Amino acid sequence: MVFEIKDVVYSYSDGSAALCRVSMHVQDGEKVAILGANGSGKSTLLHILDGLYFPEHGRVYAFGELLTEERLQEPGFSQAFRRRVGFVFQNPDVQLFSSTVWDEVAFGPLQLGLPQEEVVGRVEDVLSMLGIAKLSKRHPYNLSGGEKKKVAIASVLSYNPDVLLLDEPTAGLDPKTQAWVVDCIIELNQAGKTIVTATHDLSIVQEITERIYVLSEEHKVIAEGDPAHILQDEELLIKGNLAHFHAHRHGLAMHAHSHQHIAHDHHD
Ligand SMILES: Nc1ncnc2c1ncn2[C@@H]1O[C@H](COP(=O)(O)OP(=O)(O)O)[C@@H](O)[C@H]1O
Ligand SMILES: [Mg+2]
Repeated sequence: MVFEIKDVVYSYSDGSAALCRVSMHVQDGEKVAILGANGSGKSTLLHILDGLYFPEHGRVYAFGELLTEERLQEPGFSQAFRRRVGFVFQNPDVQLFSSTVWDEVAFGPLQLGLPQEEVVGRVEDVLSMLGIAKLSKRHPYNLSGGEKKKVAIASVLSYNPDVLLLDEPTAGLDPKTQAWVVDCIIELNQAGKTIVTATHDLSIVQEITERIYVLSEEHKVIAEGDPAHILQDEELLIKGNLAHFHAHRHGLAMHAHSHQHIAHDHHD
């Protein structure tokens, strides 16, 4: 088991509730989606899985061990955990801090203490795999949104984690880059990576997941299951505020149907 969380409650310091008794698990090699409307708690949940936030109630297990603030202060434990789990934040500007793309992608392998030659090899491999070798001397800050997203993904892949946490990976990208991200997720999963994606985008969820957790606006898990079932459940999607409900009058007959959200998420 990669992650198992039980009964997790989390609120921010200003009192805003973000997760309410959330339990979920992720198995080795799975691709799982956390689906929910803006503000439902998806990003908070990923931060909990990555050991960046700690719940006020409940437990988090990672790779079969209890994940706590104290454990992560142990250098050995922390280093082993950090090298196994990679987090691609929704906003690449939060993630990217180096002055060139090359340095950005080399940072993880250097932190791992890999020999120089291997660092160079990994950076070259990842840049060419993602088709961004030509950007290597550029400053990440000046890149387009799609390029930044690719660099953020590259900076995580270069230290070769087993698990990827992706927060709204397609938000704000043009359709071609969105399709690229979807293919990338599928390929990485086929290569054996465990992938947890937070999204509210119903148009990608079918392709990037084999199991879905739906978070409600009350920050609770209201459903868990395979995409075929979840995505057909209109009542559930409306309850989760993932689809609108419109009633249209056609002559005398009432005809109702739902519309899926395909708008981008501007919430951070
Ligand atoms: N830094 C923060 N301080 C206070 N409240 C926050 C903060 N970040 C998120 N929240 C609140 O916590 C809830 C869950 O947010 P979030 O996890 O970002 O949801 P999602 O990623 O699903 O949009 C929301 O009500 C949000 O307003
Ligand atoms: Mg979010």
